[in-house]
Amino acid sequence: MRYIIIGSGAVGGSIGGRLHESGLPAVLVARGAHYEALRDNGLRLTVPTGTLTLDVPVVSGPEDVELRADDVLVLAVKTQDSVAALDAWAARPVVGGGTAGERLPLVCAQNGVENERLALRRFREVYGVCVILPSSHLNPGEVVAPCGPHTGALVIGRYGAGSDDTARRIAGDLEKAGFLAPVAADVMRWKYGKLLGNLANVVEAVCGSASGDAAQDLVARVKAEGAAVLDAAGIAYASGAELTELRSGTVDPQPIPGVPAHSSTWQSLARGAGSIETDYLNGEITLLGREHGIPTPANTALQHAARESTRLGRKPGEVTAEELSGGIAGATST
Ligand SMILES: NC(=O)c1ccc[n+]([C@@H]2O[C@H](COP(=O)([O-])OP(=O)(O)OC[C@H]3O[C@@H](n4cnc5c(N)ncnc54)[C@H](OP(=O)(O)O)[C@@H]3O)[C@@H](O)[C@H]2O)c1
Repeated sequence: MRYIIIGSGAVGGSIGGRLHESGLPAVLVARGAHYEALRDNGLRLTVPTGTLTLDVPVVSGPEDVELRADDVLVLAVKTQDSVAALDAWAARPVVGGGTAGERLPLVCAQNGVENERLALRRFREVYGVCVILPSSHLNPGEVVAPCGPHTGALVIGRYGAGSDDTARRIAGDLEKAGFLAPVAADVMRWKYGKLLGNLANVVEAVCGSASGDAAQDLVARVKAEGAAVLDAAGIAYASGAELTELRSGTVDPQPIPGVPAHSSTWQSLARGAGSIETDYLNGEITLLGREHGIPTPANTALQHAARESTRLGRKPGEVTAEELSGGIAGATST
């Protein structure tokens, strides 16, 4: 199988780079200055053992690659970019007949729980991945994946219908490429569990750090609201202990000099990316809370704070946790 990585930033670059390094066919899809850097100088992938320069084939969009029946599309853009990417790829013809949406598996290697639903509207075969892959992409052409001995844990399963041979084959390739890749019939349960952990990302992003009493209080509040909402909605989720056990002793961050370890939401503000994923993380809890009549003031206030920081071009740390706490009192969630 050949892997087409749509969005070759922190997660996509790590997956595509590792697949290529292990001899498996991979094509990176990137845009702007990142595309140009990858095309001109290759992917610089920093891992615990050093920096690899990988000559991975790169394209700037679907019109630059002839899709084949053995292709697997891996979606690794932030959720707010998913619809545009899915629309661009789903209608592309595949050699031998049909379109990508009809014939090719689409794998969502993303946080949140919305991407699979968006994908299934456009692709017949959709796979979800619970992505435990701390990584960063702050400069064009460069990706850092600091964990070892496994680069990450990628729990994969078919969306809506358990596991199948395609999931097992993809998992096998990911294992060859240095990932822990268990196949799960209940991948969304893992993804909802991961979502609860990701609710803290916005605190670190907006305040610059999630440490300190006020920030820790916010983290506890968003997680408690998240669990209450999932319980009220009857949605199963993996516990924090299960997620910790999955990666324990095998996906361990190694300090890499000069490379800060921050969430992808922090990276969006630090890069001035102009958009942020919070509407699909804390915003998922707001949405479910509204559907089920559960108040979610902390998640709603942080969702607004993330939007404001993005709109105003603020860098991480320009708003304090105390200021955010004050904003929660004024937020409405139902
Ligand atoms: N980073 C982590 O540690 C981590 C860990 C676990 C899960 N995740 C999740 O993984 C997903 C990806 O996050 P990330 O951190 O890898 O984000 P990222 O570093 O921003 O990478 C996403 C890349 O996709 C590009 N892109 C967007 N739309 C595109 C399109 N239509 N065609 C080609 N490229 C496109 C972006 O380009 P622009 O920069 O031009 O927008 C960016 O280079 C998110 O759901 C995130 O929550 C991240």
